[in-house]
Amino acid sequence: MTSEFNLAEAAAQFVLARSGLRPKIGVVLGSGLGAFADQLSGQSSIPYAEIPNFPQSTAIGHAGRLVIGKAGDIPIFAMQGRVHLYEGYSAKDVAFPIRVLGRMGVRAVILTNAAGGINRAYQQGGLVAISDHINLQGTNPLMGANDERFGPRFPDMTEAYSKPYRDMARTAARKLGIELQEGIYAGLLGPSYETPAEIRYLRTIGADLVGMSTIPETIAARHMGMKVLGISCVTNMAAGTTGAIINHEEVLETGKRVQRDFVALINALLPSIESDISGQT
Ligand code: HPA
Repeated sequence: MTSEFNLAEAAAQFVLARSGLRPKIGVVLGSGLGAFADQLSGQSSIPYAEIPNFPQSTAIGHAGRLVIGKAGDIPIFAMQGRVHLYEGYSAKDVAFPIRVLGRMGVRAVILTNAAGGINRAYQQGGLVAISDHINLQGTNPLMGANDERFGPRFPDMTEAYSKPYRDMARTAARKLGIELQEGIYAGLLGPSYETPAEIRYLRTIGADLVGMSTIPETIAARHMGMKVLGISCVTNMAAGTTGAIINHEEVLETGKRVQRDFVALINALLPSIESDISGQT
């Protein structure tokens, strides 16, 4: 049987053969947040369907392509769309693109998502830097035999979301006059939104945000020693907090509404992340 490592390696070699750029930063764009990739200069893009072994996204609002281009003079891999557990994929499948980024030499990933706001200090349309997560998805991409070529059997998760990167994000946001809060992301399986009782439970256990993605990707990235910045867009207040009903169209519309701030924030942040990882070598 072909190992996950070899599958990721094959995908990595395929992508690297299609571009002369060698990005060290990967950005995963969540629902309604794909515009960041469109503004990259000198870009080439590869539909996920063409990349060997790559999972295909079926969710609306996810284009399903890898864009390779430059933000200013910083080369970037931008994933427009991701797959989710609720589509029926395993946590390993969901994390596979992160494995591929890692094999292509990426050292830092910015994982973005649409999330429901549990913390009452949040507002619809707000941006939040993820400070930590609570995995309630009942699964983990590292289940099964460990491949030491990716990382250790029991990776530490003390600082899953880099503190220095959160500080860089806060500094960039302040300069741009964009409000950026911090909070803890609870990841659930979905695809149904939560009940008000579930949201009360999540608030009680310390969650500020709720979503259906990101956690398998963060775990795989940390397993490979990549640094992670997580940014959520609060596309709606969580179930029961305002009495309003949640629908996917609203989630996408809110994402679109904040795209401009979101793209500005990521662009402003990239030089600090780039200098952090080029210092590492
Ligand atoms: N719950 C879970 N996932 C989400 C939500 C939500 O309210 N909004 C956007 N993604």
